[in-house]
Amino acid sequence: MSLELVSAGESHGPALVAILTGLPAGLRLEREAIDGDLRRRQQGYGRSPRQQLETDTVEVLAGLRHGRTLGTPLALVVHNRDHVNWTWGMAPWEPQGEPSGKGTKPVTLPRPGHADLAGTLKYAHEDARNALERASARHTAVHVAAGAVAKALLGEIGIAVAGRPVEIGGVTGEDAMRAATDEARSDRDTLGGIVEVVATGVPPGLGSYATPGERLDGRLASALMRIQGVKAVEVGEGLSLARRRGSEAHDEIEPGRRRSTNRAGGIEAGVSNGEPVLARAAMKPLPTLMRPLRSVDLASGEPGQALVERSDVQAVEALAVVAEAAVAWELARAAKEKFGGDALLDFVAAHRAYLERIGWT
Ligand SMILES: Cc1cc2nc3c(=O)[nH]c(=O)nc-3n(C[C@H](O)[C@H](O)[C@H](O)COP(=O)(O)O)c2cc1C
Repeated sequence: MSLELVSAGESHGPALVAILTGLPAGLRLEREAIDGDLRRRQQGYGRSPRQQLETDTVEVLAGLRHGRTLGTPLALVVHNRDHVNWTWGMAPWEPQGEPSGKGTKPVTLPRPGHADLAGTLKYAHEDARNALERASARHTAVHVAAGAVAKALLGEIGIAVAGRPVEIGGVTGEDAMRAATDEARSDRDTLGGIVEVVATGVPPGLGSYATPGERLDGRLASALMRIQGVKAVEVGEGLSLARRRGSEAHDEIEPGRRRSTNRAGGIEAGVSNGEPVLARAAMKPLPTLMRPLRSVDLASGEPGQALVERSDVQAVEALAVVAEAAVAWELARAAKEKFGGDALLDFVAAHRAYLERIGWT
C-alpha cells in the first residue's frame, strides 16, 4: 500500500488532524522527535506571539501501540490551544449564547495575497473567515508531525532530511536576516525568503521516468509548492543551469559511479542518482500586513483597508521545517513504492537487497 496523508483542521478550530496510511508495521516512533519538530516549526525570529501561546504537542489516536506502528492507519491530532479564545467564533455547531471572544464579526475586507477574496467567491462564503481559516498555514503543524513520522521511516534505511533558511528579505547570514526582520517589524511590514532542504543517504532509484507523475523532481516540486506562500522551487542548481553551457551544467560520472559535483541536486530523469537530494523553495512576503493594503469591502462594495490580524513578520525559519517535512514525506512515499513491505523488516530487507544488487555502498 502506498503512503498517503489526509489532513483536516482550521486555524482556530478545536484541532488539526491527520490520517497517515501505508506505514509498515513495527516502525518505532518517538514522541519527543515529533514534538521537537512541532516546536521547531513554532520557533523563528519573525513569528507572532501566537507561537508562544501555543506549545504544540502530538496526540496519537490510532495506529500505534507501545510506540510502534501497527500497519494500520495512524491518526494524529494537534490541538489548537488558542481555540479557547474562539469557542463561539469557531464553534463547529450552531453557537449557543451571546457572541463572545474572537471571530464573532464577519471578515469582509480581503487581504491581497491571501485566500480571502478567491475563497469567498469560489465557495460562496459571506465571511472570508470561512476561507482563511483553512488556507492559513496553521495546519502545517500536523504535516510537520507527519514529516517526523516519515523521517523515522527514512532513518531506518539511512536517509536523513534537513531544512534551513538561506535567505530572508533578500539578505543572507543570521545577523543580517535578524536585522532585516527587525526593520520590517518596525515598519509594520513583512518579508519572504528562501529555504533549502537536503536529503542524504538517498539511494539511486527513487522515483521514475516511466510516467510523468512518478518523476521525483516533479513530486518534490509539487510537495514544496503546495506549502502556503511558496512561489518558486528549484532542484539542484535549477534556475542558474539555464544560463550555462552543458559542459558546465552536468555532473560527470566518476569511478564508483559517484559525482564530484551535484548540480542536478541528486535527481536525473526524475530518478534519484545517489547524490544528496537538494531542493530550494522561495516564499513571498506574508500577506497580512499591520499597515494594510487597499481592499474592497465585500458587503458594501466600498473601498477600505485589508483585514489586520495577529501575524508573523516572516516565517522563513518555520518554512524550513515545513519544507523539510514535505520533502521527507515525499521521499518516504517514493521509498515505500520502491521497497514495499507490510512489516518494517521487509522494507529494510528489500532496501538492503537492492543496494547489494547494484553494488552501492
Ligand atoms: C509556516 C508558515 C507561516 C505563515 N504565517 C503567516 C502569517 O502569520 N501571516 C500571513 O499572512 N501569512 C502567513 N503564511 C502565508 C500564508 O498562509 C499564505 O500566503 C496564504 O495562505 C496564501 O497562499 P499563497 O501565498 O500560497 O498564495 C505562512 C506560511 C507558512 C508556510
